Amino acid sequence: MPEKHPALTSRAEWQALNDAKARLEHLPMRELFQQDPGRAQRYLVEGAGLSLDFSRNRLTDEVLEALLNLARACGLEERRTALFRGGLVNLTEQRPALHTALREGEQGEVRVNGDNIIPEIHRTLGKMKALVESIHSGERTGHTGARFTDVVSIGIGGSFLGPKLAVEALRPYWQGSINCHFVANIDGTDITETLTRLNPDTTLFLVQSKSFRTQETLENSLLARQWFLDNGGNAASVSQHFMAVTANVEEAARFGIEPANTFPMWDWVGGRYSLWSAIGLPIALTLGMAAFRELLAGAHAMDTHFREAPERENLPVIMAMLSVWYNNFWGAESHAVLPYDEYLKYLPEHLQQLDMESNGKRVTQNGISVDYPTGPVLWGGVGANGQHAYHQLIHQGTRLIPADFIIPLRSHNPVASHHAALFANCLSQARAMMAGKTEAEAEQELVAGGLDGDAARQLAPHKAIPGNRPCNILLMERLTPHTLGALIALYEHRTFVQSVIWDIDCFDQWGVELGKQIGNEILPKLLGESEDGSAGDSATDNLIRLFRDRSGT
Ligand code: F6P
Repeated sequence: MPEKHPALTSRAEWQALNDAKARLEHLPMRELFQQDPGRAQRYLVEGAGLSLDFSRNRLTDEVLEALLNLARACGLEERRTALFRGGLVNLTEQRPALHTALREGEQGEVRVNGDNIIPEIHRTLGKMKALVESIHSGERTGHTGARFTDVVSIGIGGSFLGPKLAVEALRPYWQGSINCHFVANIDGTDITETLTRLNPDTTLFLVQSKSFRTQETLENSLLARQWFLDNGGNAASVSQHFMAVTANVEEAARFGIEPANTFPMWDWVGGRYSLWSAIGLPIALTLGMAAFRELLAGAHAMDTHFREAPERENLPVIMAMLSVWYNNFWGAESHAVLPYDEYLKYLPEHLQQLDMESNGKRVTQNGISVDYPTGPVLWGGVGANGQHAYHQLIHQGTRLIPADFIIPLRSHNPVASHHAALFANCLSQARAMMAGKTEAEAEQELVAGGLDGDAARQLAPHKAIPGNRPCNILLMERLTPHTLGALIALYEHRTFVQSVIWDIDCFDQWGVELGKQIGNEILPKLLGESEDGSAGDSATDNLIRLFRDRSGT
């Protein structure tokens, strides 16, 4: 069991933050900027090819120092060392979480149960390279001898979201010979709509499942295999068209996938941290192995930054501590991730799993209920589209929603003045959140626009924007495999640092497991394969009856 230490909210460092908040409460950010000409420059830090402008936060040097003091007091340094060295950071499952080892150089050394795992990681990368090259060159074909044109990745959760994000984000780097499709949902529409567009002779299926027990993935894979057999394939050629990435080689073999076509996963990699492993095959097949290695290199650069940069300049530490600040001291219940880059449209989805599956926990590592909020709701979407939808609530609603804007300085598609306009929109949103508009300013504007005094006074409250709403701006030169790797790793470490402060296990997901278990109990009842007893409550039983009477299943 972990060591006992003072409850988080009784720590002196926690109290210091409460006091700091009281001093800052009536000091708007506008004034902080006016009082301190060096603020913008001082709160701009760089690491692994990313720049973080965190000047638009309810923050002073005193608060920053107090936040970092809290991180130190919570043992961040020791926990970070344990993470990288393969300590049992996933306590409830008694496992290390070594996604960082997946992006370690060939000469590195990370031991699990005494064995250095780096050689095996690099052997797997070699096997991925051989597959990618043989498919791209046409040496490896489907059963009719036709080249593969399409890859269908069947997986869900961490075996889906990261690869989907990276494939879409790196579209400018696609090599052009392979189209990648993703099937995740047990909703039959997902696989049906995907298969209708494909030719079985030229399609390769990747069954992506660490456990090889996930219902959605297994059912979709069985259906895909049947579709292949019904459309010209035969039992012998299944092995040419189906490959697996899994830690459960026996189950994959039972499905008909030869060990030679099975890529390993390890129990020391969590699903939501697995895109760096062979689960990243859809990325490598679409972009080529060199780009995949660049993605790993970017993530590794962020690992090095996280380990070595002083706390005051450390991007994941600063972003995590700001999140703790708003979540635990200012009552923020959600956090918006707003990429101003069309290619990053799946980033919020990936981060939702990463952050909310990791930090949606309510007991400490010792199993004691927390008396403070843990992980906030993470949500978001691409700018500028969101400005015409939910930004209204960010600006004038009653909730405090800290936001991360993410934008590259250079566009892959520099048409007309679009990129400057996109950048202007991003800056305008950040400024509006920070500075807002007082009622007096709104009234003055209205009068200047020709409205009479009374009408202006009545309208002004509606036009006033409170401001003082915090945001970060994350910049990169250009969205490349390297910067994307760094960006995703940044959020992984941010999530980890938060969990250290909240003293929760960010590598398990027992809530998700309960849903799977109940689903497996209900399914036979819906299918009429088991009429025994109740599903546990009359509400569920009622709808089971309704489904059986009316669904036509
Ligand atoms: O969603 C829960 C989860 O356990 C994730 O953590 C995991 O990535 C996903 O299911 C899929 O699991 P598997 O790769 O074992 O099919």
